[in-house]
Amino acid sequence: MKKYFASILLAAAAMCGAAATPVYLDDSKSIEERVEDALHRMTLREKINLIHAQSKFSAPGVPRLGIPELWCTDGPMGVRPEVLWDEWEQAGWTNDSCTAFPSLTALAATWNPDMAQLYGKSIGEEARYRNKSVLLGPGINVYRTPLNGRNFEYMGEDPYLISQMVVPYVKGVQSNGVSVCVKHFALNNNELNRHTSNPIVDDRTLYEIYLPGFKAAAQEGGAWSFMGGYNLFRGEHASYNPILMNDILKGEWGWDGAVISDWGAVHDTPTAVKGGLDMEFGSWTNGLTNGRSNAYDSYFFADPYLKGIQDGTFTEEELNDKVRRVLRLTFRTVMDRNRPFGSMNSDEHVAACREIGQEGIVLLQNKGDLLPINPAKVKKVAVIGENAIKMMTVGGGSSSLKARYEVTPLDGLKSRLGDEVEIVYARGYVGDTTGEYNGVITGQDLTDPRSPEELLAEAVKVAGDADMVLFFGGLNKSNNQDAEDFDRVTMELPYNQNAIIEALAKANSNLAVINISGTGVAMPWKDKVPAIMQAWYLGNETGNSIASVLAGDVNPSGKLPYTYYASLDQVGAHKMGEYPGHRRLDDHGNEVWDMPYNEGIYVGYRFIDKNKLKPTFPFGHGLSYTKFKYGNATVDRTEGTSDDVFTITVPVTNVGKVKGKEVVQLYVNDVKSSVDRPVKELKGFSKVELAPGETEQVSITVKGSDLGYFDADKHQWVVEPGVFEALVGSSSADIHTKAKFTIK
Ligand code: BGC
Repeated sequence: MKKYFASILLAAAAMCGAAATPVYLDDSKSIEERVEDALHRMTLREKINLIHAQSKFSAPGVPRLGIPELWCTDGPMGVRPEVLWDEWEQAGWTNDSCTAFPSLTALAATWNPDMAQLYGKSIGEEARYRNKSVLLGPGINVYRTPLNGRNFEYMGEDPYLISQMVVPYVKGVQSNGVSVCVKHFALNNNELNRHTSNPIVDDRTLYEIYLPGFKAAAQEGGAWSFMGGYNLFRGEHASYNPILMNDILKGEWGWDGAVISDWGAVHDTPTAVKGGLDMEFGSWTNGLTNGRSNAYDSYFFADPYLKGIQDGTFTEEELNDKVRRVLRLTFRTVMDRNRPFGSMNSDEHVAACREIGQEGIVLLQNKGDLLPINPAKVKKVAVIGENAIKMMTVGGGSSSLKARYEVTPLDGLKSRLGDEVEIVYARGYVGDTTGEYNGVITGQDLTDPRSPEELLAEAVKVAGDADMVLFFGGLNKSNNQDAEDFDRVTMELPYNQNAIIEALAKANSNLAVINISGTGVAMPWKDKVPAIMQAWYLGNETGNSIASVLAGDVNPSGKLPYTYYASLDQVGAHKMGEYPGHRRLDDHGNEVWDMPYNEGIYVGYRFIDKNKLKPTFPFGHGLSYTKFKYGNATVDRTEGTSDDVFTITVPVTNVGKVKGKEVVQLYVNDVKSSVDRPVKELKGFSKVELAPGETEQVSITVKGSDLGYFDADKHQWVVEPGVFEALVGSSSADIHTKAKFTIK
C-alpha cells in the first residue's frame, strides 16, 4: 500500500516537473552524504571562497547553492556587539546588547561541571538568537604564569580540571546548533610577543600538561571547530602547525572538525595549506588600509591558493579536505533546520549569570568569621576602592562586551543591605578612568580631581568611622592588566593599592579585601587582613552575586583553579623556564622569541609540591561559612590492573551551622616510578551540598589507565605497576585522608 502511494507521489511530482530535493538539502540523509553531494556541485572558485573570510567575522558560504554565510562571533564570555563589515568599530546596532557571563576563570572556580553546562547552553542560546554559527571560545590555555594578560579568559592551571569543565561547556553551546571554536590551540600561554613566541616544549610536557583540555574538548565534547594560536611551535605558526593540527588533532585524535585561524594569524599560503588550516580569518586585520580594493581576494587562502591549484602547486584533493570540514561545520550549524531558535537576555540567562558568579566566588581567608556581614552587629559599612564602582564588561580585548546592564559591587551591596546597614563609599585611589573599547562606552565618568593623598586620607577616615570595611580592588581590563595583547609586568597590585590596604588595616581591624581580577596578584598584606575574597569579573550580575555572598545568602563554595603565588619566584615558568625568552631573527629575518619551558610538567601546584613551597593560597583552596569534616577514605579494590576503575569513597560531614557545598578533591601519587613524577596530580573531584549535621559518602572514580605518564620515546601513555596513593582533601595543600591501591 505504502509503495503504491509513493509511486503515485513520484508520478505526480514528475508530471508537475518538481525536481527531487538535492541530497545536500535533504535532512533525512547523513551529514557525510550531504557534504559529499555539496562538494561535488561546487566550482573550484566556490571552494576557495568557502574557506576564507569576506568580512571581519563572516565567510560567504555558497550563494548559488543556497549554502548560507557562516558567521562567527567572539567570545568566550558573551556575544560580541556587531562591528562594521571591514572594521573593528561598532556597527551601531541598538539590539545587540548581550548577557555578559562571568569570566572563564570564575566558571572554572565553581569546580562544578553542571555550571559549565549551564554556561555553555546559555551563551549558545544568545549566539544562536543572533544568528551566529561559531562562538569563538572557550579559551582553555593553561595558566603557566600569573602575568599572562588573558588568564581571565581561560580555565586555570590544571589539565584535569580544564578537561572536566570544557566538555560540558562545549556540549551546552553546541546543543543550540552553534559551534564552539576552542582556542588557542596550542601553547598560547602568554600575550607578550604573542605572534613571535616560540615555546620550546618537550613531548611529555605537551601531552601531560598542555594538550589534555583540547583533547577532551575534541573527543569527549565533540567540538566542531578549533582556533589555532598566534604563537609558533617547533618553527611553525600554531594556526597551521603540522604537528599540532595534522599529526595530533586530525591524526591521533581522529577529529573531523574545522580549524579556523586566529585573526590575522596566517602569513603564507604553502605552509598554511600543508599545515592543517581549514579557514582563514582576519588577515590584514587592521590593514584594509593598504589600498586594495578587495583585500579578501588577497587572503592567503583566496587568489594565491586558487592560483597554486591552477598551476599545479597544490592539489584539489587537498583543498577538498578543507572544504569538507567547513561544509560539515555549516551543516552542523546554520544548515541544521532543527536547531532551536535561541534567546537573548532572558531571565534564565540573568539567573545563570548570577548563579555561576556566586558559585565561583572564592573565600580565601576569613579569620574570626568576619564574613558574612551580620547586620545585628554591623551598622555601618565603609566600601572603599575603585573596583566597587567600575564597570568591567567593557575592555580587555576581543572578549569585551556590550552588556545590557551591569550591576557594580557598590550598587549590589546597596540593594541587598542598604535597608539594614548604612553604607558609605570612599574612592581611595584613582586607577583607570577609561571605559571604552572599540566604540562601546560604559558612560561612567570616573575622573576625580583629588590628589592620591586626599583620596587616601578620606578613605582612612571613612574606614575608621565604620564597623567594617570592604575594600574592592584588584585589576581591571586595561592594558598590562587583564587584557589581550599584553602581559602584566609584575604580580603587584597597581595604583598603590598595597599601601592603601595597609593603611585601611590600621584604621579598622574589621577589614575584608575583595579582589577583582582574572589572575593572581601578590598579597604582601595577607596577614594583616582578616578576610580576603576572590571575586573575578562576573558580568551583568557582578554586584548582586558578590553581595549575596557577602551577606551570607549564598555560602561561598568556589575553589581556586590556579595557585595563588606569593611571588614570581614560586612560578616554575619564571624560576626555571625562560619568560619571555630570548630574541633572535630566523632565516628570513623574522623576529622569534625562543621560550624554553624548562619547568616541564612542573606547572602550578606540581612545582609548588616538588619544591615544598608555601604559596599565598594553594590550588584548590576555598573556604565556606560552614566547616566540613572528612572521615577515612577507602578504596573498593586494593588491587587491579590499568583496565580497572577504582572507586575511592570518603564520608564528609557538614559540622557547621549552615548549609554549604564542598569540593572533595582526589589527587593521586604514584609512589614509586622509574621517571620523575609530580608529588600528586588531580584525578577527580566531586561537589556536594550538605545541610548542617549531614554526612555523605562521597565516591570518586578513577581509571587505572589515567594514572600513567607520557613516555615520549614510545610516544604512548605508560602506567607502571606498583602502589598508588589516593589523597583526598579540600585543596592541593589540605589533604585529609589517604588510601592505597596497587596496579599489577
Ligand atoms: C583573538 C581571538 C579572537 C579574535 C577575533 C584575536 O585577536 O586572539 O581570541 O577570537 O581576535 O576577535
